[in-house]
Amino acid sequence: MSLKFVSYMSYQSRIMSKKSIEDFLFQVREKNKSLTITGILLLIQGKFVQYIEGPAEEIDKVYTSISKDSRHTDMILLDSGDLKERQFENWSMAYKEVTDKQIKDIIGREELNLEDIFLGKTKSENHPVLEVLYNFVKTLSS
Ligand SMILES: Cc1cc2nc3c(=O)[nH]c(=O)nc-3n(C[C@H](O)[C@H](O)[C@H](O)COP(=O)(O)O)c2cc1C
Repeated sequence: MSLKFVSYMSYQSRIMSKKSIEDFLFQVREKNKSLTITGILLLIQGKFVQYIEGPAEEIDKVYTSISKDSRHTDMILLDSGDLKERQFENWSMAYKEVTDKQIKDIIGREELNLEDIFLGKTKSENHPVLEVLYNFVKTLSS
């Protein structure tokens, strides 16, 4: 069974309450567990950045479902490809909302231009989205 990953960014359609985020994550995690999908989802200033990995067939199906979801719009595929091993093995979907204060503490400005970071780069082996996500996970676990 071949493993695959996909990452994208998108724009949140509307602000979700804490409760609706919790319900949404519960459903996503249950479904991902049943399909053996793992990954990470960030919400940064109204933009989602998600990375999912798992069996290629399941990833394709879930990506199609996600792309039809009205809770976000204008999905931009950042990267996808084959994987030898999982990068986020223990997370059915890690989730973190990055606050304006955290952005300011990290980059010294309040506005993080994700488009500048993720787009307009030539495709390389280490796509910037992965670097950002890995670094972020490191800060979560430290
Ligand atoms: C930003 C975002 C991320 C999502 N991530 C996942 C995910 O990782 N896995 C998943 O099964 N559904 C995810 N969903 C939910 C899907 O869009 C969809 O609602 C869910 O898979 C149920 O689809 P179904 O009713 O066809 O089973 C996500 C939705 C949004 C808006």
